[in-house]
Amino acid sequence: MTWWRDAAIYQVYLRSFADGSGDGIGDIAGLESRLGYLRDLGVDALWINPWYASPMADGGYDVADYRQIDPAFGTLQDAERLIGAAHQFGLKIIVDLVPNHTSDRHAWFREAVEAGPGSPARDRYHFRDEPNNWQSRFGGPAWSQVDDGQWYLHLFDSSQPDLNWDHPEVRAEFLSILRFWLDRGVDGFRIDVAARLVKQAGLPDKHEAEEAVPSFIDPPDQPDKDRPEVHEIYRDWRLVLGEYGSDRVFVGEIWVSDPERFALYLRPDELHTAFNFEFLKCAWEAGAFRAVIDRTLATHARVAAPPTWVLSNHDVTRHVTRYGRTETAFAKRVHDVPSDLALGTRRARAAALLSMALPGGVYVYQGDELGLPEVFDLPAALREDPVFYRTEGLDLGRDGCRVPLPWGGECPPFEFGKGGAWLRQPEEWRDLTAARQLGDADSMLSLYRLALRIRKSEPALGDGRMRWLESEAGVLAFARDPGFVCVVNLTDRAVGLPEGTALLASAELEDPGTGEARLPPDAAVWLRTASEVTA
Ligand code: NOJ
Repeated sequence: MTWWRDAAIYQVYLRSFADGSGDGIGDIAGLESRLGYLRDLGVDALWINPWYASPMADGGYDVADYRQIDPAFGTLQDAERLIGAAHQFGLKIIVDLVPNHTSDRHAWFREAVEAGPGSPARDRYHFRDEPNNWQSRFGGPAWSQVDDGQWYLHLFDSSQPDLNWDHPEVRAEFLSILRFWLDRGVDGFRIDVAARLVKQAGLPDKHEAEEAVPSFIDPPDQPDKDRPEVHEIYRDWRLVLGEYGSDRVFVGEIWVSDPERFALYLRPDELHTAFNFEFLKCAWEAGAFRAVIDRTLATHARVAAPPTWVLSNHDVTRHVTRYGRTETAFAKRVHDVPSDLALGTRRARAAALLSMALPGGVYVYQGDELGLPEVFDLPAALREDPVFYRTEGLDLGRDGCRVPLPWGGECPPFEFGKGGAWLRQPEEWRDLTAARQLGDADSMLSLYRLALRIRKSEPALGDGRMRWLESEAGVLAFARDPGFVCVVNLTDRAVGLPEGTALLASAELEDPGTGEARLPPDAAVWLRTASEVTA
């Protein structure tokens, strides 16, 4: 079976992972020095956020040169060495491809600006004499003007001009970029903004005005999203990937809620997998989870693609914080609501076991395994996310889920590197360092390590089927045959368990070893069962 059908993939936000050079910014050398940690964590692959040459106006999602590594992260040779070293550790490498837009510092955009209105260089982007009414996903208008008065489209920051995917040179260039990285041994690509590359011809106005703070729930049928022609692009890409064997993978960032439309991206000649954001957005509520899980399985079964289970990433409020709130469904980032972090952590532990027991692949965003919460009280002057600036602080942006990892020690930068950290970690993170948690059998890190180890060795887990078991309201219980059951208690009281031996629990069971063990609230347990459990 191909590895990506049930891989545990760890997301490395390179700037904040580990700093090898001592400049306060995470880099390739830092990542290389921590490969042992990642192997021991038990993941199969690393998805590395963009590491290309970039002015870093959007954390590297503004690429100036797709074939160079940004000097803050290292060199192309460092990247090649990292890929080889990761492979030695048994870890695959997925790089992040950003095809919807370039940086305004990219040679093509500079050429377009210089060449002037009507020039062929401008055709590679969307230049117009008049803007339409589209809003940027980061807030504010999606159009900015160059000095000669023409407007260019940017669905994100003004430093990220959208490419024109109807242009043959744009298509050819990305096939060449794919080959460039495949030739360097990468095992796959995460595709940024995968549903938005193609825009409706003529760029017509939208009917609905968008809100000041962009939401993660998009209205369907928009002229800048999910156009049918986008599928041609992925069919071309799949052919290129196929030239390198069947072991390389695409994962699409596809924020399309309609299951039928979502499934189209995962047809056998398009992308292999996509992030399951419906799971990420889901409220801490049994009925809601059950509905999302059922819908996910049905959607993926239609195209025989493996589902993925995602709890967090570098764009959303960390789930320890989300799950500690009264409103646990995620629609947009908010910062002015309280969160009970002890409750959020308890639920995050249970959610980890749930996500790892479901059929398919699972994602771990760096710091999930340490139970890091969102950080809100960052000094405004240190904030880097354009979302913060474009919404005038209405949305604090994403810096708070990108704070550098605490590795060890008693005070910031917690061994992130020898030269501080580009964002200072909270003092309380001394209790959350990897070193501290490694020595504590009850820590989040110990739970992740054990769970990932069991997941890897347990034939019932990973790709395959699951079966719901009968359970009381507010409880999720399902079997993975043969002989494995996962129970998650989302009620506010302890609940009884099916027969079996506990392999791993996210919280201490009540009355263990009595044959009448009970699962406390906001907790999950994995059970070894004799055979086919039915109730
Ligand atoms: C999605 C990425 O995950 C996000 O971080 C980025 O800002 C936008 N795409 C634009 O590239």
